[in-house]
Parts: sequence; structure tokens; C-alpha cells
Amino acid sequence: MRKYLIAGNWKMNKTVSEAVSFMKILKGAIANTASVEVLLFPTFTALYAVNNEIKGSDINIGAQDVFWGEKGAFTGEISPAMIKDTGCSYVLIGHSERRQYFGETSEMVNKKTKAVIAAGLKPMVCIGETFQDRENNSTFKIIEKQINESLVGLTAEQACSVVIAYEPVWAIGTGKIASPDQAQEVHVFVRKIYSQMYKDASEKIRILYGGSVNPDNISNLMANPDIDGVLVGGASLDTESFAKLIKHFNN
Ligand code: PGA
Repeated sequence: MRKYLIAGNWKMNKTVSEAVSFMKILKGAIANTASVEVLLFPTFTALYAVNNEIKGSDINIGAQDVFWGEKGAFTGEISPAMIKDTGCSYVLIGHSERRQYFGETSEMVNKKTKAVIAAGLKPMVCIGETFQDRENNSTFKIIEKQINESLVGLTAEQACSVVIAYEPVWAIGTGKIASPDQAQEVHVFVRKIYSQMYKDASEKIRILYGGSVNPDNISNLMANPDIDGVLVGGASLDTESFAKLIKHFNN
């Protein structure tokens, strides 16, 4: 049985004190989270302080990016071990903003995923088609290519520890959420690709949907059996809306 996962991607938002006070409020606002795993991706600079604030709560944290090297002359980069050291359990990898603005390729995603697993962290690998891909009927081709290239070389056991976040690029930050049917059909497809690559892993992996999720549209989306949770950007920045999203899973 797959446990639901709700993750908030803060992107480049919140100072350390803003991040800590968010957690203080969220801790108080969510009572029972037994049926859903709650995860937030603050900025690197806030991770350590946030981790101190959430100790003893059911909130988990992750980093928004990582470098695959262990240490050395890589100015500006942060290793998996450093991320683990701040109290993170997850790392977000290959978000479309990283692919779009920072030239991240699926080959880099693959290296990061392997390094993160080797460090004992859980990777959340983002995939998704652009509007143009969808218009050209290449959504499935793109998704298959991204999965193959991002996960190449992983064992079945390692592949099970990956969370896939399906985020259509055209739905991110636009208010244009994919329809429940559009999301469900891609999630089923991802499971099919997984079963071709890893056999039994397909029923074990969690596949999240991301892109313009908010408290008003989460119910329709989550009615689909292959959607195991959500990755939320804008609506995760405010404690009230994020708590409402969490509440959806506890009703
Ligand atoms: P959004 O962002 O919820 O603001 O569309 C989602 C994401 O980028 O992960």
C-alpha cells in the first residue's frame, strides 16, 4: 500500500526567519497526519534552522537541488552528505525550472539521483512535457525518454526509493491545472514504463502530480487511483492553504 505524500516546493522564497515561523505555525495547524507524509523543500539557507524547528513533528524536509560530487573544487555546489547533515530526508531533482533556466539535462538528473541514493537520501525526480510537446502529441514519448534517461543504471530496489513528480511544464505556476484524466493517463503510463524497466517496482513507486494544485482543485485530482500525492509550489507558501491541502488527505 502506497502512502500519500504532499510536498511543498518553496522555490526561491522565504528568509530563514520566515521559513522557521512558517514551520512553527504549520506544526500547530496539522494535528493528525497519519495517512499522509508531509514534506517541504525550503531553500538551502533555511534547511538547518527549519530542521531544528520541526524536530519531534511529522514534517519532513528536503533540498531543492544537489550536486553529485562528494566534495572538492566545485564552487557554489552542495553535496548529498551536506544536505543530509542539515536533517533532510529528500532531494528534489530535475525540476523543470532547473532544466529550463540552468540547462539541467536528464543525464545530470541521473547522476544526481544516483548520488542522492548512495548518500541514503530519497530522490524526487521531476518529469513533464511542455505545452508544445503536448500540442505535438509527443507527451508520452517525452515522458518515456525522461524516465529512461533519468533512471538508467538503477537497480529495482533503488528505483523503488525514487518518487516521481509528474509536472506538466505548462501547468506550473500558470493556474492551468491538468485535468484529472490528463494526469491519470500519464501516471498510468509512468507505471507501465516502470514495470517494463523493473517489473514489481511499478506498484511500489509513488507518483505525484504537480502544477497549479490548490485547495479548490485537489479533491478532483486525488480521486484518481494512480495519483499518490501532490507537489505544490505557490499554494505551499502560505500556511493556511498548505494546511488545507494536507487536511484533504485526513478527511
Ligand atoms: P505551482 O508549482 O504549484 O506553483 O504550479 C509547482 C512546482 O513547480 O512544483
